[in-house]
Amino acid sequence: MNTQTCIITGGNAGIGKATAIHLAKNDFEVIILARDSQKSIDAKAEIEEQSGGKKIRLITVDLAEKSSILNACEIINSDYSSIDYLINNAGIMKRTLSTNTEGLELTFAVNFLAPFLLSRLLKEKLQSSNNGRITNVSSALYKKGKLPSSVPPDPKKFNGSEAYADSKLLVLLDGMFLSNAYSESNIQVNTMHPGVVGTEVFREYPKWVGSILNLLIMKPEKAAEAVAHISTSHSFDSTSGKYFNFRQTESIKNLDQLLQQYASIESSTRELLGI
Ligand SMILES: NC(=O)c1ccc[n+]([C@@H]2O[C@H](COP(=O)([O-])OP(=O)(O)OC[C@H]3O[C@@H](n4cnc5c(N)ncnc54)[C@H](OP(=O)(O)O)[C@@H]3O)[C@@H](O)[C@H]2O)c1
Repeated sequence: MNTQTCIITGGNAGIGKATAIHLAKNDFEVIILARDSQKSIDAKAEIEEQSGGKKIRLITVDLAEKSSILNACEIINSDYSSIDYLINNAGIMKRTLSTNTEGLELTFAVNFLAPFLLSRLLKEKLQSSNNGRITNVSSALYKKGKLPSSVPPDPKKFNGSEAYADSKLLVLLDGMFLSNAYSESNIQVNTMHPGVVGTEVFREYPKWVGSILNLLIMKPEKAAEAVAHISTSHSFDSTSGKYFNFRQTESIKNLDQLLQQYASIESSTRELLGI
């Protein structure tokens, strides 16, 4: 049996790390895309140990920076003949305005621009897989999101929770958009909410918020099983353009209208990124 290759962003923490362990245990060739940090080196060692000594690959990337994403994609495109699964998992929730080296707000850059770029720059390798699949990890909070009136959104209007919800709506709509755009290429694209999970995603909130939530909510391992299932199970080989709330598909209100509005955002985003 051929080993299937899976790329997961944010594989050094939380849901991403737990998903990488789950996939490595199940004999996938796992590539984690994570920052150049000791944390990522330690996470790679932990994933290898927890999965019973399976070798995984760490490709370092700063998902806030286009140049770093281009560099990671160049490595992937030169080292692999095909990629079976891309899981766009990494995400951030900021409380205060921060920007990348190009002046772009970080929530928009990491939660939306990074998956947008990866899904396009790795298209050929996903197509070569014969059954390539992309999973965007969004959030049920997309329901509170609004589409930006300009691309990029105006950083002066930044509000942390709104920026998070808006970015999760954008990444969800990009998944729906690509599902149509990639249908001829036999690449399936789905989006999911992983559940409310005790991870570092609340790292910018006071410690007691995280501690209370951690008592009440799901462990990363449970979310990871769902992410791995939706992303790689053969039962979804021909499922595309769906949104899963944890394990169940759910319809999106006003999807046609949102997709019509998203089409011009998609083209402005390509212009912004120069692709
Ligand atoms: N936890 C929840 O309740 C929940 C609910 C709904 C949706 N989600 C979504 O699930 C996904 C995973 O979140 P999580 O809960 O596992 O949170 P987490 O523990 O904070 O993990 C986030 C991951 O993203 C990575 N990341 C952030 N900025 C990056 C950058 N510039 N470059 C490279 N990697 C970067 C982090 O790496 P570093 O540690 O190096 O920063 C980390 O690996 C996110 O998209 C999140 O929005 C989570």
